[in-house]
Amino acid sequence: MKICVVGTGYVGLVAGTCFAESGNDVACVDIDAEKIARLQRADVPIYEPGLEELIKRNVSERRLSFTTDLRGAVRQSVICFIAVGTPQGEDGSADLAAVLRVAGEIAAAMDGYRVIVDKSTVPVGTAERVREVVAARTSHPFDVVSNPEFLKEGAAVEDFMKPDRVVIGSDSQRATELMKELYSPFVRTERPIVVMSAASAEMTKYAANAMLAARISLMNEFANLCERVGADVDDVRRGVGFDRRIGHHFLFPGVGYGGSCFPKDVKAVIRSAELHALDFRMLRAAEEVNERQKRSLMEKAAAHFGTSLRGMRFAVWGLAFKPRTDDMREAPAITLINGLVDAGAEVHAHDPEALNEAQRLFGKRVHYHRVNYEALQGVDALFVVTEWNEFRRPDFVRMRQLMRQPVVFDGRNIYDPNEMRQLGFAYYSVGRRPVK
Ligand SMILES: NC(=O)c1ccc[n+]([C@@H]2O[C@H](COP(=O)([O-])OP(=O)(O)OC[C@H]3O[C@@H](n4cnc5c(N)ncnc54)[C@H](O)[C@@H]3O)[C@@H](O)[C@H]2O)c1
Repeated sequence: MKICVVGTGYVGLVAGTCFAESGNDVACVDIDAEKIARLQRADVPIYEPGLEELIKRNVSERRLSFTTDLRGAVRQSVICFIAVGTPQGEDGSADLAAVLRVAGEIAAAMDGYRVIVDKSTVPVGTAERVREVVAARTSHPFDVVSNPEFLKEGAAVEDFMKPDRVVIGSDSQRATELMKELYSPFVRTERPIVVMSAASAEMTKYAANAMLAARISLMNEFANLCERVGADVDDVRRGVGFDRRIGHHFLFPGVGYGGSCFPKDVKAVIRSAELHALDFRMLRAAEEVNERQKRSLMEKAAAHFGTSLRGMRFAVWGLAFKPRTDDMREAPAITLINGLVDAGAEVHAHDPEALNEAQRLFGKRVHYHRVNYEALQGVDALFVVTEWNEFRRPDFVRMRQLMRQPVVFDGRNIYDPNEMRQLGFAYYSVGRRPVK
C-alpha cells in the first residue's frame, strides 16, 4: 500500500518505518526541514533500539522516504496518518493546532479518496473536528479513522511490530478494511484488531495511559507508607503481583512517572472531564502524588545531610525519563537537578543516551560525563534516577573510592540494601527501610 505519515517524531518515525518494513511504500513528512535532511542522510535524530537499522534498510530498498513536501506525499498515498505532537495546552487540554493544520493541508492536497488517520493522542471529538476541517477544503470523498498508538519509548519498534492489540475507530467499512489490511502483518500471532467508534478509540488511548499512571502513583503511595511502617514494598509488589487480577506489570515504585505522554494525557483527561462538569478525582490524585514523588529524592537528601546542600557536589546517573531512550520530556531527573542546582549544589550528570538532550535543557548549569564513574569523582552522594541496565551491577569498591562520601539515593530500587550496607554505603531507596 502507498501511505504517508505526517510527523516524524517517536510515533510517526517508528510507525512509518515499520509500515515500510512490512512491504508498504511510505513517505514520512515533517515541517522540520533539518530533521528531514538528517533522516535523508540516514542520520536518525532519536534513539530507539533497532530503529536506525530498519530505517537504513528500508531507505536503501526504496520503500521509505523522507520529505517536507506534504502535498506530493498525499498525492501518492491512499492512507494518510497524522502523527504530529499534541502538547499540553495552557488550560491542560491537548493542543490540537498541529493536528487540525495537517488535516487541512491533507485536504487541500487530495485528488481522490483518502483515509485520514489520527494516530496522535487526541480527545474525544477530534475525529469529528478533523472531518469538518477536511470537508471544508475538499470535495473528494474521504474517511477519518482514529488509530491510537500504544507503543512504549525504549521498545517502540518491538511494540509496533508486535502490538498487544490494534484499535481502529471508524464507522466506515471501506476504511476499516483498508486499515485491517495494512495491519494484518503485525497481528499474525493472534493479536486482536479491535474495531469501535472513533470516539471510543480516542477514549481508549487516554484510559490506557490514565490507568497506567494511576497504578504507578498508587504503588508509589504504598512505597511511601511502607517506609513509614517498616514493610518492604518489593515484597509487597511480589505478593500482590501474583494475584492474576493484578499482575506484575507497572508495580515498581520509583521517583514518579515522566515522559511525553502520561503527564500531558492525565492532564488532558482531567480537563476534558472538567469541560463536561465532571471532577475526575482519581486522576487529580494520581497527578498530585506524582508531583510529590518527583521531589522525594531531594527530600531524602535534605533529611540525610540535615544542613543546606550549598557547595555540595552530587552525581546523577540517569537523565532520560526511562531507560533505552534519549527522551527527557517531563523526566523526574529535571525536578531533581533543578532542586539541587537551586539549592546551590554542583551536579555531575551521566546518561548513556540523553546527554545531548540534557545539555540542551541545562546548558552550563550542570557538568556532563560520558562515563558513569567519572561523574562520581569527589561527590557527596550519588542519585540513581533512571534504571539503565548498565547501572545495575557497577564496581561498588571503585565507586566508594571515587566518592567523597559513600551515600546513594536509589530512586529505582536497583541495589540490594543489605549488600550496600555491607559495602559501607548509606543507602536510601523507595519503600524499603533506609539502611545507614
Ligand atoms: N512518544 C510516545 O511514546 C507516544 C506513544 C503513543 C502516542 N503518542 C502520541 O503521538 C503523538 C506524537 O508524539 P511524538 O512523541 O511522536 O511527538 P514528537 O514531538 O516526537 O514528534 C512530532 C513531530 O511532528 C512534527 N510536526 C509538528 N507539526 C507539524 C506539521 N504541521 N506538519 C508536519 N510535521 C509536524 C514535529 O516537527 C515533530 O517531528 C502525540 O499525540 C503523542 O501523545 C506518543
